[in-house]
Amino acid sequence: MRKLDGRTAIVTGGSRGIGRAIALELAELGAKVAINYRGSKEDAERVADEIRALDTEALVIQADVGEAEQARSLVKQVVDTWGRLDILVNNAGITRDKTLKKLTDDDWHQVLRTNLDSVYYTVSAAQPVMTEQQYGRIINISSFVGQAGNFGQANYAASKGGIIAFTKSAAQEFAKQNITINAIAPGFTETEMLSQVPEPIREKILAKIPMGRFGKPEEIARAVAFLATDGDYITGQQININGGVYM
Ligand SMILES: NC(=O)c1ccc[n+]([C@@H]2O[C@H](COP(=O)([O-])OP(=O)(O)OC[C@H]3O[C@@H](n4cnc5c(N)ncnc54)[C@H](OP(=O)(O)O)[C@@H]3O)[C@@H](O)[C@H]2O)c1
Repeated sequence: MRKLDGRTAIVTGGSRGIGRAIALELAELGAKVAINYRGSKEDAERVADEIRALDTEALVIQADVGEAEQARSLVKQVVDTWGRLDILVNNAGITRDKTLKKLTDDDWHQVLRTNLDSVYYTVSAAQPVMTEQQYGRIINISSFVGQAGNFGQANYAASKGGIIAFTKSAAQEFAKQNITINAIAPGFTETEMLSQVPEPIREKILAKIPMGRFGKPEEIARAVAFLATDGDYITGQQININGGVYM
C-alpha cells in the first residue's frame, strides 16, 4: 500500500521542469496523475509514460490554464474520468521579464493570466468536487519573488504575490470542508525557465544564494508530496524552499 493509492491529482504545467518532478513524485506514491500542458505534447506524453511505469494511471490533457473555459474543462475531464479529484497542483507559470519602462500591457496580462487567473479558475472548479468529497489538497507554486520582489519582474512578482494572498483567503473559506490550500515558494530552481537567464546573470544570482547552489525540481516536489500525504493540519501557509535566498 502506497500513501497516495486511490488518490487522483492534477499537475498544471506537468510536462517539464518542476511540474514534471511533482507529477512523478505523486505517482511514485501511488496517485493517478493528470498531466496538463499547453504546447509541449511530446514532453507531456513522455511524463505520462514514466508515470505508467510506476504502476499507476496517467492522463494527458492539453489546456491553456489562463483561459477560464479550458482550465475548468481540465478539472471536469479528470473528475469525469476518475470520479474524484484529491490533489490539485497549480504549477503552470511563465515569465516575461522587462523593467517597467519597457513592459507592455501584453507582457503584464500574459503573465497575470497564466500565473494567477489560472489558479482562480482551477481552484473554483475544484472546490465543489472537493467539498462533496470533504477532502482536498491544493498546492499552488508561487515564488520567493512574490515575497521579495525582483528587478525586471514586476508582472511576475505581482502574479506570485497574488497567489500567496489568494491561498490565505481560500484557506479560510475551505478549512471546514477538509480542503487545505498552501503555497510553495521556490527560489532559483534548475529548469528551462532558469536556463533562459544569461550566464553572467546566473553567476550573480548564485553569489546571492547562501547555500551556494540552485534548487532541484525534486526538492520542490518532495514538499508537495509532504503536503499531500502528511499535511492534514497545514493550511494557508507558504513554504519557502530557496537555499536561504529570502528569509
Ligand atoms: N525555475 C525557477 O527558478 C522557479 C522559481 C520559482 C518559482 N517557479 C515556478 O515554478 C513553476 C514551474 O516552473 P519551471 O521552472 O518548471 O518552468 P518551465 O520549465 O518553464 O515549465 C513551465 C510549465 O508550465 C507549462 N505552462 C506554461 N504556460 C501554460 C499555460 N498557459 N497552460 C498550461 N501550461 C502552461 C509549460 O507547458 P508547455 O511547455 O506545454 O507550455 C511547462 O510544463 C512556475 O509557476 C514558476 O513560476 C520556478
